[in-house]
Amino acid sequence: CGIVGYIGNQDSKEILLKGLEKLEYRGYDSAGIAVVNEAGVQVFKEKGRIADLRAIVDEKVLANTGIGHTRWATHGIPSQENAHPHQSNSGRYTLVHNGVIENYEQMKREFLQGVELKSETDTEVIVQMIDQFAKELSTEEAFRKTLQQLKGSYALALVDNEDKSTIYVAKNKSPLLVGLGEAFNVVASDAMAMIQITDQYVELMDKEMVMVTKDGVTIKNLKGEKIERAPYTAELDASDIEKGTYPHYMLKEIDEQPLVLRKIIQKYQNDQGELAIDGEILDAMNSADRIYIIAAGTSYHAGLVGKQYIEKVAKVPVEVHISSEFVYNTPLLSEKPLFIFISQSGETADSRAVLVSVKEMGHPALTITNVPGSTLSREADYTLLLHAGPEIAVASTKAYTAQVAVLAILAEVTAIAKGRELEFNLVQELGIVANAMETLCDSKETFEDISRSFLSTTRNAFFIGRSIDYYVGLEGALKLKEISYIQAEGFAGGELKHGTIALIEDGTPIIALATQEGVNLSIRGNVKEVVARGANPCIISMKGLDQDGDTFVLPEVHEMLSPLVSVIPLQLISYYAALHRDCDVDKPRNLAKSVTVE
Ligand code: G6P
Repeated sequence: CGIVGYIGNQDSKEILLKGLEKLEYRGYDSAGIAVVNEAGVQVFKEKGRIADLRAIVDEKVLANTGIGHTRWATHGIPSQENAHPHQSNSGRYTLVHNGVIENYEQMKREFLQGVELKSETDTEVIVQMIDQFAKELSTEEAFRKTLQQLKGSYALALVDNEDKSTIYVAKNKSPLLVGLGEAFNVVASDAMAMIQITDQYVELMDKEMVMVTKDGVTIKNLKGEKIERAPYTAELDASDIEKGTYPHYMLKEIDEQPLVLRKIIQKYQNDQGELAIDGEILDAMNSADRIYIIAAGTSYHAGLVGKQYIEKVAKVPVEVHISSEFVYNTPLLSEKPLFIFISQSGETADSRAVLVSVKEMGHPALTITNVPGSTLSREADYTLLLHAGPEIAVASTKAYTAQVAVLAILAEVTAIAKGRELEFNLVQELGIVANAMETLCDSKETFEDISRSFLSTTRNAFFIGRSIDYYVGLEGALKLKEISYIQAEGFAGGELKHGTIALIEDGTPIIALATQEGVNLSIRGNVKEVVARGANPCIISMKGLDQDGDTFVLPEVHEMLSPLVSVIPLQLISYYAALHRDCDVDKPRNLAKSVTVE
């Protein structure tokens, strides 16, 4: 979910709506704003997108203070009723919330006996509590007293219709920033929401509350003690978050991949043109006896490729874990583990939960992220940046290739630091990859045709590969299901015959990757097995390993780096499959880009 707030001299409605549009990647089941003026508070909320909300906002209402929210449903179905903001029964307080309150049932029993609740949400419990406490306390005190009771994650923004001069905000485990302007101040889950009007932000820590007025911000801890903190300048270019002439962010981001790769090569080179990584990170890599990669979704798939790199090149054993499982299924840890968190957003709550427990255990952690200053970056000991620029489409593309590239560089530089002889020059090989990526991005029509012929009417599709191709197949399948809703699965080529082959029917598309010399014959054997059962094979091979009848031949790159190129056709055929099926490419149903709840 995403939160915004504005307090200043201008009318807040448009600023809030524009901010919410920028935060839609955090969820878009429903949205709402509350604005406060002399007449009191006005709430507008609607199921659906920000565009649906915009349609019901009364243009005539003018107010200099307001808060807003875009939701990804957790407690309660997506509906107008469950949309934020939520109000207390007296109508005095209005609140937006991101996160999950774990003890809200208990709070209801302890503090809200006899109070009639209007929604199914944990958020309403918070606002009703504040209202109850405010019968005897000031708003600030009532807010603090409520926060002291809450267990769970929250980013909150509250307005009091008896005092439109202050927005009250607080956070715990969910991201929230306060932005500073001339005679206005703002609140946002992400600097992206308000970057058009200010680049000055104050970071908030867990269990802090802030009173935001148009002329200043007062930060306090939950004991009521004041905290001083200097603002920082957000390094975000407002033009980076525009779509330009592209029909979708996803297509723009796919096309940016060669550029991002070149930027990564440049950012990770020292003055002598050699690949370089911060010495402290190398020390951490070198003193680890085992590396644990923790990630979710696409980042997890990049982690699987990274494991191959680190093990093969740097010779350190690696385990890759899905973050939401790690907490319950913690493996036996080695003596000197190093944790690597891979996260585009740096905010995924599942990954953050692991980081918190890793820090409690006293182990070192490195975050590989696209967002400097994100929660995972701040809380880990070290950070490596992806330099991919903002990724807005929910389906991750350029962040994946950036993650794979940074992991390759990390593996290589660690190996050099260990004094290992390397078989190839990575800078040179990555340069070849960037050119190959460009060729692929220029072949969009071919991929549109491939997508049309294999995927336009199918219910399902399977991706197969062996070795590193298997991991890319997992990512291809995720891309396709995320945005086109075609049921898609990735399998290790050899595993198909142990069950999944039962699903093959006449015409079932099988997308097979053949980029690895060592397994070229065996993956082609797997293709024959499924073709014999009626499958429709789409073979994507690497130049040099290609055979007659292959659907597409990739330009040749070093086979270790093949994921950086083989994923592009998969991204593009998924994109066109979604387009041909009239799906909302950038905002697929039920998903959010940054999932800040566990
Ligand atoms: C969400 C997104 C996925 C993403 C995953 C991990 O579920 O929809 O596309 O891969 O989160 O996100 P992260 O920001 O941690 O890489």
